[in-house]
This record gives sequence, structure tokens and C-alpha cells, in this order.
Amino acid sequence: MINRIKSGIPGLDEFIQGGFPLPSVLLVLGEPGTGKTTFGMQSIFYAAKRGEKAIYMTGIAEPVFMIKKFMSSYKFFDESFIENGRVQFWDLGTSIQTMGPKKALDAITDIVRETKVTRVIIDPLPLAQLFSSPVDYRRYLYDFLAALRNLNVFTIIVGEKADESAADLEAYMVDAVIILYLKSLDNPLVYKNLMRIRKMRGTNHTRDVLSVEITENGMSVLKLD
Ligand SMILES: Nc1ncnc2c1ncn2[C@@H]1O[C@H](COP(=O)(O)OP(=O)(O)OP(=O)(O)O)[C@@H](O)[C@H]1O
Ligand SMILES: [Mg+2]
Repeated sequence: MINRIKSGIPGLDEFIQGGFPLPSVLLVLGEPGTGKTTFGMQSIFYAAKRGEKAIYMTGIAEPVFMIKKFMSSYKFFDESFIENGRVQFWDLGTSIQTMGPKKALDAITDIVRETKVTRVIIDPLPLAQLFSSPVDYRRYLYDFLAALRNLNVFTIIVGEKADESAADLEAYMVDAVIILYLKSLDNPLVYKNLMRIRKMRGTNHTRDVLSVEITENGMSVLKLD
């Protein structure tokens, strides 16, 4: 029997047997602007609303205050959860710069343990290039993912890769991979936001391409018709 945690993305859970396995690590891959940050943020505010605690870690792509500023245009963004500590932010980029990648990975698991969060978003995990060799990176990533699973949390790692050739190291090592992308369908002048569930261990997930809607209410998915 696998425990599952609800995604917080309307429409998605019914395609993944009710939610993501807990614990598990999900990799969300996608081109710029496909909704990776929205996906993660919506999931943690959903969790906060249900009384869970969550932590959002930014990589080196965007500073925390800018992310907050952009995400605050969504209705699910609720400042009161930041004030009462249910949603916390942590600047991973700075930690990596000051401590180096190995200690930064340890610091992540320490913080997750201490804060007793149920969800962790790492947006993005900018580490591969910082290790001296792929073997070294693989070993640390393996230990890191194992430590997160041991803490019984749901982790979302955002990957800055566009496509499935991204089936490299991280994609093999995580428990689930979701790909967000843009494509023109019937009308070549209009592109649509789409989602594919590339893999999800222990889960009979849909193989259908899902249509992604992003409005001021956040992201929702439904079967493409
Ligand atoms: N308040 C809003 N209402 C409707 N759509 C929005 C709103 N805010 C953002 N969007 C849409 O969501 C997209 C941004 O999504 P998001 O920032 O989550 O993408 P991302 O994949 O994290 O991008 P990046 O790769 O730049 O980090 C915007 O490009 C826009 O199309
Ligand atoms: Mg983003």
C-alpha cells in the first residue's frame, strides 16, 4: 500500500492514482515559461492551506523576492502562510556559493529535518556542473535523494531542460518525471501548454498528453480533447 500526497494541481491527481507517492522525488522538466515554478508554488500553498509546512528553495536563476513578487499575482499565493511560517523560503544559490555543492546538499536535508516540512521545492537544482566529475555528482545526488526519502517528504526538483533527451542522470534517479511543454495543435498560430507524465514509480499513471491551463487561479490540467 503506497501512501499518496495530493498534488494541489486541480485535475492532476485523478491521472496518477490519487496523488504522488509519499515519500517520493518528482522532477519537473520544461522549457522557460511552461509553468514549473507555478506548479511547485501552487503545491506548497495548497499544502499550507491544509495545515502542512513546506519549504521553497531557489537555485541561482531568480532571487527570492522576485519569485514572490511574480507568484503573488496568483490567487493561491497567501502572504499569511509566509508570516506564520507554514511556507518558508530558502536561498539555495547563496548556500551553494558560500558552502560549495556538497555541504549545500547536506544543509538542505538538515533544514528539511529541522523544520518538519512535508513538501520541498528546489527550483532549480543547479548542481551537475559544480561537481568535479559526473561520478562524484551521481554519488552525492544518490545520497541526497535517499536522505530526502528517509525524511518522508514529497520533493519537487525543477529541471531546466526542455525535452526528453533530458532522460539523463536526474531523470533516472528520481521517482517521477513530469514534462511541461508548449506546442501548436490545430491552429499553427496558437501554442498550447501541455503536460506529459514521463514516469512515476509505483503508479499506474495516464499515458495521455494533458492540457495545461494557467490562469490567475494557477495551474489546472485536463485530458486533451
Ligand atoms: N497571474 C497569472 N495569470 C495567468 N497566467 C500567468 C500568471 N502568472 C504567470 N502566468 C503564466 O505562467 C507562465 C510562467 O510560469 P512559471 O514562471 O511558473 O514558468 P517557469 O517554467 O517556472 O519559467 P522559468 O523557466 O522562466 O523559470 C507565464 O509565462 C505566464 O504565461
Ligand atoms: Mg521558474
